[in-house]
Amino acid sequence: MQLRIPGPTPVPEDVLQAMKKQMINHRGKEFGELIHQLTDKLKGLFQTKEDVLILTGSGTGGMEAAVANTLSPGDKVLSVSVGAFGERFANIAEQFGAEVKRLGFEWGSAADSGAVRKALQADPAIKAVLVTHNETSTGLTNDLGSISAVVKEFDKLLLVDAISSLGSIILPVDDWQCDVVVTASQKGWMAPPGLAMVSVSQKAWQAYAEAKMPRFYWDFAKAKKFLEEKGQTPWTPAVSTFYALAVALELIEQEGLPNVFARHARVAEAARSGIKALGLSLFPDEAYASNTTTAIKAPLGVDVKRLLQVLREEHQVILAGGQQQLEGKIFRIGHLGWVTEADIGEVIAALKAALPQAGYEVAQATQ
Ligand SMILES: Cc1ncc(COP(=O)(O)O)c(C=O)c1O
Repeated sequence: MQLRIPGPTPVPEDVLQAMKKQMINHRGKEFGELIHQLTDKLKGLFQTKEDVLILTGSGTGGMEAAVANTLSPGDKVLSVSVGAFGERFANIAEQFGAEVKRLGFEWGSAADSGAVRKALQADPAIKAVLVTHNETSTGLTNDLGSISAVVKEFDKLLLVDAISSLGSIILPVDDWQCDVVVTASQKGWMAPPGLAMVSVSQKAWQAYAEAKMPRFYWDFAKAKKFLEEKGQTPWTPAVSTFYALAVALELIEQEGLPNVFARHARVAEAARSGIKALGLSLFPDEAYASNTTTAIKAPLGVDVKRLLQVLREEHQVILAGGQQQLEGKIFRIGHLGWVTEADIGEVIAALKAALPQAGYEVAQATQ
């Protein structure tokens, strides 16, 4: 089976096996060693010397934590959004009482750092900028380095959703001065769902000291205190996902982070060229096409639901459809984590066979 959605992603056999291990006392020495070991490795992979916290929850929990730990109700926040997950970040901030100014770009386009500069110039009261590094809903990676440079010109707090990019696409957290960066275990990390991992900069801790949004479960300071003083988490952690992540991070270290990034770039290139060879078009601006998710325009006459069904039932290939306004208009191949060019070759071959059954002109498909 080829599970090629943008998370949860398939996990290697050794990672699966790790999850068979019996439970341990999450307040005992063995867990303490495990969490310290994982935290140290994650710091290396985040390319940060700042704090990294492992929270039990999905990526959205990490996004909520980023907002609730650094902001107060009434704070002005600039939300830079290029798709469904950018909207989610804005909605979270709004729910918690921030005054959200939305800087939205057409879905499929990248965020423009010049427009971010204008928005920050226009309103000096803005305290923080929310941005999605890799917008999974449109298959697009924003130029976070340029956006961060602008945000830091104005010395604002930068909160980043890197859920579907960190560990797969270059994101040097400290070099790009990102204050809170969120990712999740079921994406490029080759582990099952269950953990959100977040980095917290000094500037973010300063913001924490003043932040008044309600928080209990997602309290960064509690997580840091438990980690440093006891080698624990404040609440019961997803122990099995910790086991799995430990093995997955070892695999990533063995491969080497630059090689992992290079493999994702090669695999994505194989996906894009395979798609074009079928006569199909990419959805996002190709200059910003993501190395973890390829979004493809559904050609005229193609029923996306039917296509996904044929792929699933006849070829054991699971792809994702479009979300929200893109439902029925695009479909997506997830290629993050444990994935090779050969996997993508199988996906493209299955697509070639399945497309005609979903209404695609055979003549085009065999060009
Ligand atoms: C960019 C992005 N942000 C946020 C999320 C939400 O993460 P989760 O589903 O783990 O809550 C996802 C994954 O679905 C994502 O790809």
